[in-house]
Amino acid sequence: MALPMFQPETYAATRQPLDRAAPLPHWCYHAPEWYAREVETIFRKEWLCVGRAEQVPRPGDFYTIRLVGEPLLVVRDTAMRVNVLSAVCRHRGAVIAEPVRQAHCEKFVCPYHSWTYGLDGTLLEIPGFPPPMQGVQNFDMAEFGLRRLRSDSWAGFVFVTFDPDAPALAEWLGELPDFLANYRVDEMRFTHRDIYDVECNWKVWLENAFENYHAPTIHQKHMTPGKPQNWTFESGDTFEAMYSQRSIVAFSGLRPLPGLTDKQASGLYHVWLRPSLQIILTSSYMKYRQYLPEGPEKLRLIENWSFPSGTIATAEFQETVGPAYYDKYSEVIREDLTIAPNVQRGMRSGAYRPGRYSLEEHITHKIANYVIDRVVGREGGRRVLGEAAE
Ligand code: FES
Ligand SMILES: [Fe+2]
Repeated sequence: MALPMFQPETYAATRQPLDRAAPLPHWCYHAPEWYAREVETIFRKEWLCVGRAEQVPRPGDFYTIRLVGEPLLVVRDTAMRVNVLSAVCRHRGAVIAEPVRQAHCEKFVCPYHSWTYGLDGTLLEIPGFPPPMQGVQNFDMAEFGLRRLRSDSWAGFVFVTFDPDAPALAEWLGELPDFLANYRVDEMRFTHRDIYDVECNWKVWLENAFENYHAPTIHQKHMTPGKPQNWTFESGDTFEAMYSQRSIVAFSGLRPLPGLTDKQASGLYHVWLRPSLQIILTSSYMKYRQYLPEGPEKLRLIENWSFPSGTIATAEFQETVGPAYYDKYSEVIREDLTIAPNVQRGMRSGAYRPGRYSLEEHITHKIANYVIDRVVGREGGRRVLGEAAE
């Protein structure tokens, strides 16, 4: 490679202000060594959203999720706490629960030798006759519970971090809770999710999701010719947001949320919370997308829906409105599915030389700069997101 991959100067063109900047080089989207550094400096450092607490309403409810290769269990225990546990057995490392969207159990039994764990990860029992661990020296069952990840929640979202030194979640969220306060996100209830496994780097889809420039081409059939969407951009200390009154996902015949400003009631926001959570707030419901990298060229995208409980309670919602929403917007996703693997092939070819951003790609540029900040550092570059220098 002509340029050193981890030197800040290599990314000088992306560091420029938007109207002079160039996108990231191709290797940031497919090189295993770049991806490994992203995992280390981004996904093992930040807080990551694993879902919403109401996805596991009763003790014993759980689901599985994989974060940068690590299989996890999100489970509610008998004390009503939501635990995020490593699903890797403490005996010889089998994964103790098959991938499952939603299930219920009283305890977790490893499929290999049946070590049995409680809902909080405690090792409860090692079944067998004669007792399999009899005679094993210095073995204390209390030391062999499932590893519990550091987790916390905000407004119903459950977050985890692999970093024991990460700041408290409330501090890490910065101004975001205030920015979204009127939407009463804590009162939203999860109703549905779709999971997509896509052959692309996580940034290919994330960057796409935060620019509307592609919409007249990729989402042509949802657009009204001659009526541009006129997105505007807002920033907080920890997030970026874009607002429009004409988004293709804004359609809503549902009752608006009480307490919104006129602006909030007449449009919608897409919010990017680094590294990879997208929250979409309309005047009557919320969507959120989790971007879960599975490798340099593999993405698991989880598209989630939440509505106010008053809305969900109506028969009309259950029978027609809810399914109509899921259906309509999975169509939008399917359209994006046509382009993301295409872009990935272009990046993987190595032939790409960075072009230029349009001014509509404001947040795409912010995402690229955030990634450079984390992966190669900030020396010689301007800061984004207003964080203090490390
Ligand atoms: S690996 Fe789980 S019980 Fe042996
Ligand atoms: Fe799109």
